[in-house]
Amino acid sequence: MNKTNSAGRDIASTLHPYTNLKVHETDGPLVITEGEGVYVRDENGKTYLEGLAGLWNASLGFSERRLAEAAYRQMLKLPFYHTFAHKAVDIGIELAEKLLSIAPVPMSKVFFVNSGSEANDTVVKLVWYYNNAVGRPKKKKIISRAKAYHGVTVASASLTGLPNNHRDFDLPIANILHVECPHFYRFGKPGETEEAFAGRMADSLEQRILSEGPDTVAALIAEPVMGAGGVLLPPATYFDKIQSVLKKYDILFIADEVICGFGRTGEMWGSTTYDLKPDMITTAKGLSAGYLPIGAVMISEAIYDALVKQSEKIGVFSHGFTYTGHPVTSAVALETLNIYERDGILSHVRSISPRMQAGLRRFAEHPLVGEVRGVGLVGAVELVADKATRASFDPAHAVGPYLVKRGHHHGLILRALGDSIAFCPPLIINEAEIDLMLERFELALEDTVTMLRERGLIPNAVPVFAK
Ligand SMILES: Cc1ncc(COP(=O)(O)O)c(C=O)c1O
Repeated sequence: MNKTNSAGRDIASTLHPYTNLKVHETDGPLVITEGEGVYVRDENGKTYLEGLAGLWNASLGFSERRLAEAAYRQMLKLPFYHTFAHKAVDIGIELAEKLLSIAPVPMSKVFFVNSGSEANDTVVKLVWYYNNAVGRPKKKKIISRAKAYHGVTVASASLTGLPNNHRDFDLPIANILHVECPHFYRFGKPGETEEAFAGRMADSLEQRILSEGPDTVAALIAEPVMGAGGVLLPPATYFDKIQSVLKKYDILFIADEVICGFGRTGEMWGSTTYDLKPDMITTAKGLSAGYLPIGAVMISEAIYDALVKQSEKIGVFSHGFTYTGHPVTSAVALETLNIYERDGILSHVRSISPRMQAGLRRFAEHPLVGEVRGVGLVGAVELVADKATRASFDPAHAVGPYLVKRGHHHGLILRALGDSIAFCPPLIINEAEIDLMLERFELALEDTVTMLRERGLIPNAVPVFAK
């Protein structure tokens, strides 16, 4: 290891999230130093089209001066103040009002946090506090779903339904349950329609509620489109059916809008796209276009009323972070929401997303591709070892990660979720950039075919993709 170059210094100094730490010791990092539009540049001057908007969040790309200026202006005016103990900050009030004005269903109050994980940890605590307030101390279990992603703090990682987020971290904590992942392509039965599959998912949720005892089940949390689990869209009628089960047993519904919120699906909210009526909403990422860490929890009037009564009884609502409602993150978030509006980002997404979705669907014919899925400007291509049986590759072959690495070679950054390759470009992407993203993906896909042939993992007879 060369400790004087930036890769060596990184290896010597930094513990990386979501990284194979052993491999990192030898391979080191890709060091990114600059950004411009939908592109980022590494320390050697090579540019990459950022096909995942960083971590699904840099919706306005990597060089939006208006956000830098909003931060600078606020830093000069009031760099920090807090919202504890009856204090407030003017810009935070404005942001809360703005969020309430664009909420997908009527919401009463906004609680600010610094990340999606903190937002989801907060809702877990609010659900428990709420049920204590309304005299239902047994009603505490929160249902999540296999393959859900809700974050990595202790409660939010427990909600997450991915095995590696629990394994050896001694999670999940008590009172968190997981029901089936509603991915029709993977878990639908032969001959079953999407609607029938959704019905089976809702029946099985109801059975689980009954076996747990409805008086012990407090809430269900769901991403409108499951992100890190593989960009999984809800099957037709799924959320209608799930929401009527929840209503029947007086169970709260929490929408995790951390990825879907702020235009990703072509509407302001995934909840609007899929007609969800949540009692609480969690957001982060696109709220500040990734420029500063901020998230928000929105709660209904009924929940707020209960919190008020309980805090009156106890004397205080003892929850909050030093940076809850931070003035600079609030200023940047407010400017982000104003830019979405002023620049017509929603209508841009609506007009441009069919090009990305159609471009992705072209790969459905490819011999290595099992399913192509997506909505708005988010999508995925799932690679399979056998198209007919839908069998996946042995994870040990790391086929998805190989494709992503080849993408880097061709100047494209994507994310492998197992063998599903996720696309979630900045919302400002234009037609030529979408075409370039798909061209570079195709090159990486063909490199992957070559690698699999050379290693004897697919028969030589697999034809190359006919354009
Ligand atoms: C749907 C969803 N919820 C929550 C989170 C956690 O957010 P953070 O990484 O900001 O804690 C993420 C992050 O990817 C997410 O995709």
